[in-house]
Amino acid sequence: MSFNDTLHTMVQSEDGSFTAYSKEFDEHYHSTKDGALQESLQKHVIPALLHVKDKEEIAILDICFGLGFNTLATLYYMKLMGIKKKLTIYSPEFDKELIASLKNFQYPDIFDEFKDIIYALSSSGEYKDERLHSEGTLHVSLYLGDAREFLRTCKQTFDIVYQDAFSPSSNPILWTQEYFHDIARVIKEDGILTTYSISLATRLALHVNGFHIYLYAPEGCRSSTLASLSPLKNYEEVDMAHKITCNPDAKPLSDLEIKSF
Ligand SMILES: C[S@@+](CC[C@H](N)C(=O)[O-])C[C@H]1O[C@@H](n2cnc3c(N)ncnc32)[C@H](O)[C@@H]1O
Repeated sequence: MSFNDTLHTMVQSEDGSFTAYSKEFDEHYHSTKDGALQESLQKHVIPALLHVKDKEEIAILDICFGLGFNTLATLYYMKLMGIKKKLTIYSPEFDKELIASLKNFQYPDIFDEFKDIIYALSSSGEYKDERLHSEGTLHVSLYLGDAREFLRTCKQTFDIVYQDAFSPSSNPILWTQEYFHDIARVIKEDGILTTYSISLATRLALHVNGFHIYLYAPEGCRSSTLASLSPLKNYEEVDMAHKITCNPDAKPLSDLEIKSF
């Protein structure tokens, strides 16, 4: 069976891994230039796992699941580096047809060992592995619905948030100051948020909710953003007061300006 349908088409990105193009959002799921796998590893997984290296248990919020690269690259990188933890991943995704078709997506070979996980998530939205006692345990749970709704009802808190929605221009409701208010409620005080967006509007939406903002230079990819409610060491903090002074008209996106919301 083919992955391609009227709304999704598989596309090869520059690192050789495949991503997809969404007709609905008129956008690719990853940067085709940076490469799907490289973008996921370099902008999200590597800085996030470095930040939580001393924790025995980690909870990740993967916004949104899409093709699942961020979840799968997390498992891949933990295995590669011999990182053993109790890991819980929650990931909202409202495209049920996409999730059902993931069995037919051409993932990088390094994800071959996770085929049973992809199959389980694609079929039931859930994967649990309690067998690996001495090696840590894994629970991945997809929320097949709206991410905003998920956040409003979420009782969990998270060590890591992968903020990987479609761009602010094509999917603004997942980038507003009200949205990041909900993220600030569910991210732990010492948690980390990773995102490919370096736009001032995104950074302002994080800033007004109490986040410290950092410029991150991932290996082999364009710059990205890290954010945390607590100051982070070893990264260059963006001077938001200075940015605001230099750009007095800049403002964060707001739910109030989004007609469909
Ligand atoms: C850029 S893609 C995510 C890529 C994904 N992180 C990956 O590694 O494959 C954005 C995803 O957000 C989903 N999405 C958009 N708006 C949503 C919403 N309000 N609630 C839940 N999912 C949403 C889309 O269906 C799409 O799969």
